[in-house]
Amino acid sequence: MSSTEIAARVQALGPWFHNLDLNGVATAPSHFLGDYPAVKWRRFADAIPRDLACKSVLDIGCNAGFYAMQMKERGAARVLGLDSDEEYLAQARFAAEVNELDIEFRRMSVYDVGALGERFDIVLFMGVFYHLRHPLLALDLIHEHVAGDLLVFQSMQRGSRDVCSVKENYDFWTTDMFDHAGYPKMHFVEHKYADDWTNWWIPNRAGVEAMLRSAGFTIAVHPEEEVYICRRDARPYAAGPVYPSRGEAS
Ligand SMILES: C[S@@+](CC[C@H](N)C(=O)[O-])C[C@H]1O[C@@H](n2cnc3c(N)ncnc32)[C@H](O)[C@@H]1O
Repeated sequence: MSSTEIAARVQALGPWFHNLDLNGVATAPSHFLGDYPAVKWRRFADAIPRDLACKSVLDIGCNAGFYAMQMKERGAARVLGLDSDEEYLAQARFAAEVNELDIEFRRMSVYDVGALGERFDIVLFMGVFYHLRHPLLALDLIHEHVAGDLLVFQSMQRGSRDVCSVKENYDFWTTDMFDHAGYPKMHFVEHKYADDWTNWWIPNRAGVEAMLRSAGFTIAVHPEEEVYICRRDARPYAAGPVYPSRGEAS
């Protein structure tokens, strides 16, 4: 395809969130975060195995496929990108075609990953968490159904970067820890944040780390402020709340 043809398709498929370089044609050259997500990727690319031969990768909330394509370029045997938005998926399919990368893209919500019936060596869950009304449910479902070994997680964070050490338990009358900036917190966005009504829950750093652990992911590396590379582990608590608590959590 000539540059003129690519530019015309890029224009027709826009607007783009991912700034991709498609044979010299930039898809989102005026992105408010700069050359995004390439600038972010450069800050954690070395923390992910260079050689993904024989590995399967699931990219949840793949958008135009920037990360899915990076994984395929590292030799992943199978890459599946999911997104709830058909227009972003059309961009991803076009970009993969231009780059001659064999990647499957499917319209599916993170809440439906159980239907895949398959675990993946690497699951990417980047930039989706704070767009969800039920973020912890999504993490639980990823753990239960699709996470095989590594989870690459990223979320916008707001609030303190401090992380308090949290005790195993507090009595009913102890409340001061909730006022500490480094206590795990989520900020609920009732209306909009950054002009985006799809931003619902924005955690602080302690909140991200606590929720990952609570969903059964052990943080192995934290190569970039918002990025965590985790190993799937046993969940510390049983799924589903029981009140009042009866015996040990399992
Ligand atoms: C901020 S973009 C992040 C894109 C990419 N993962 C990245 O990190 O650059 C959020 C993406 O998540 C998708 N998304 C939002 N809710 C979703 C859901 N419930 N299931 C799957 N994808 C979702 C959006 O359509 C969008 O493409």
